[in-house]
Amino acid sequence: MADAPILVTAALPYANGPLHIGHIAGAYLPPDLYVRYQRLRGRDVAFICGSDEHGAAIYMRAMQEGIDPQAIVDRYHGQIQEAFKGLGIAFDYYGRTTSDTHRETSQEFFRVLEKARIFNRKTLEQLYDAEAELFLADRFVRGTCPVCGYEDAYGDQCENCGSSLSPSELINPKSAVSGTEPESRETTHWYLPLGNIQPQLEEWIATRKDWKPNVRGQVGSWFNDGLSERAMTRDLPWGVPVPEGVDGNVDGKVLYVWFDAPIGYISATKEWAEEQGDSDLWRRYWQIHEDGTEPTLLHFIGKDNIVFHTLIFPALLMAHNEADESAPQWTLPANVPANEFLNLEGRKLSTSRGWAVWVHEALEAFPADVLRYGLAATLPETKDADFSWGEFQARVNGELADVLGNFVNRALSFTWQFYEGIVPLLDEPNEEDQRVLEALEEFPDRIGNAYEQFRMREAVQETMALARLGNKYFNDSEPWRTREVNPQACENTIHIALQITASLAVLMEPILPHSALLLREMLNLEGVRSSEPGGQGAPIMWEDAAFRLLSPGHILNEPAILFEKIEDEAVEAQRNLLEERAVASEIVEDEGEAEELEEAPFAPIADTITFDDFTKLDFRAGKVLAAEPHPNADKLLRMDIDLGFEERQILAGVLGHVEPEDLVGKNVIVVANLAPRTIRGLESQGMLLFAEDREGKFIPVLTEGEPGSTVK
Ligand code: MF3
Ligand code: ZN
Repeated sequence: MADAPILVTAALPYANGPLHIGHIAGAYLPPDLYVRYQRLRGRDVAFICGSDEHGAAIYMRAMQEGIDPQAIVDRYHGQIQEAFKGLGIAFDYYGRTTSDTHRETSQEFFRVLEKARIFNRKTLEQLYDAEAELFLADRFVRGTCPVCGYEDAYGDQCENCGSSLSPSELINPKSAVSGTEPESRETTHWYLPLGNIQPQLEEWIATRKDWKPNVRGQVGSWFNDGLSERAMTRDLPWGVPVPEGVDGNVDGKVLYVWFDAPIGYISATKEWAEEQGDSDLWRRYWQIHEDGTEPTLLHFIGKDNIVFHTLIFPALLMAHNEADESAPQWTLPANVPANEFLNLEGRKLSTSRGWAVWVHEALEAFPADVLRYGLAATLPETKDADFSWGEFQARVNGELADVLGNFVNRALSFTWQFYEGIVPLLDEPNEEDQRVLEALEEFPDRIGNAYEQFRMREAVQETMALARLGNKYFNDSEPWRTREVNPQACENTIHIALQITASLAVLMEPILPHSALLLREMLNLEGVRSSEPGGQGAPIMWEDAAFRLLSPGHILNEPAILFEKIEDEAVEAQRNLLEERAVASEIVEDEGEAEELEEAPFAPIADTITFDDFTKLDFRAGKVLAAEPHPNADKLLRMDIDLGFEERQILAGVLGHVEPEDLVGKNVIVVANLAPRTIRGLESQGMLLFAEDREGKFIPVLTEGEPGSTVK
């Protein structure tokens, strides 16, 4: 019986910087573990990734450096690929979105949707930088956030309160390119009407009950807010050009990076198929087969990519399917196992603050498998997790070296010391021997189930549990004693210990591919399937690790140390490196802030308003009844406010400025007649007044007036 083919994708990293361990723990190690496991099972799986080489951020970076964007992406495409290779992240294919195949594929996709009138074409005013001759989309414009008042919000999102914005909503917008105040100009764009597609998306998502709670939660909150249309094109000199032959003027327009990037998964699969010498092979993983078989599409991503992979890309695939129902139909993702974020030494990872561990540097200090293990054991699967060098060292020394490495070494050394490296015979095993052999039988499925359900940490624990079992069995059986008093018992112990070692050589391969290979060589174990791309074919597979893989009389090779312990100095050096960089970048930052302070000590006075304008505002005193963090936004505070005559829920982007508990019981001032708006799934029914000091800190404005009083 043939299983459905599986296509595993890992988020295409932006080719504008090196990879750090947060990327790896979020979106790359989990699928690598999963895919290696599936390959060892003999499943038909393709693992696809590539560089995301378009987008405003890359263009802006190129302008800052004064070079061609292509030069930037060429540099990082190579570096990123090296880092993946060094860590043993084994894609079947690693593409890039500047390839010809990708341009053709994404343009064709757009053309089909355009022909089917899926998009709304709209002409509207957009901010334009006359000096740089550039429309200012997304990150090209910065200004004050209309929700929380943060002064350095991006045109597409406020980093302070998490609200998603559009450039025209910013107060006091400034071009991030030239620093000038932008003007407005007319331009036309193609919008995906997600609101219309929402019912269909909701119906589809309802069939995906097994998705992780963190993913379902985010999707649910987007649905609650109501999806709104999103422009799928941009005015930008860098990207896939909007194809000719569609209605409207496409001059200077490119596809929105989040339109083209996920299609990059498809283009890369096509290029892989081409490389395999079967140019249609990609269809097997993307399209519903004629016999109705549906491939299993899995997108591994970090949590900041959830909306694009669960809603926008599926909406595009659905629309494409409807545009041409007679054509082969795209499969929709079977699962989107998104991870949360990895923190570092108790702080948020931040590349600009120098708070990151770069993969290429870590690989200079530690073997790939050791890094894989340290990360696999701390994956942020259900919530944010913390990576610390101390814990890393403790795990590597206490688990990899002391348990796994030690067990393997004892079993092999004993065999060499007393049996000339030959696997002894198992004869009349005692109860304990049998119990251990039975226990062994359950491991492949138990570990496998964890992988199948995307519980990678559990898979790591279960794998180590087998090594622990072996270690304990070896200890309890005391072969060094039985060798004198009961030679057959000793042979049985060593026979079984070696079988466990051989099973480990198979079962640890997803996590520790390099060491698994080494162990296989030490065991002289041939015919084991490899988890590398194209490694299928050899007869010994995952499930065979349930049984005895070594026959008596089999000759082993010389053992070697599998895992070296990590010295204190090595982790100390890593900690120092982090601190040095953090301090260096803080100095730079402080200087920047000091300059700003001298130039503009207080916010400038806003435009004059009339008295009538002022009287339109209804300020009231209110009492804070409850205050707590917004469940879905980092910086937002959710409050219940008693206005005397009614209760309101109000959100404010001030977490980190005030302690929620300090606000409770205080009388504050509320803008009571502000139209309500929904932020991250919760409605805010008004606004609270805060004073903002020169450092951008918010201090609540308090009153002694009783709740309900008007404030004039
Ligand atoms: N480049 C994006 C990021 O790093 C991820 C793109 S994933 C894809 O956040 F689906 F668009 F390819
Ligand atoms: Zn904000």
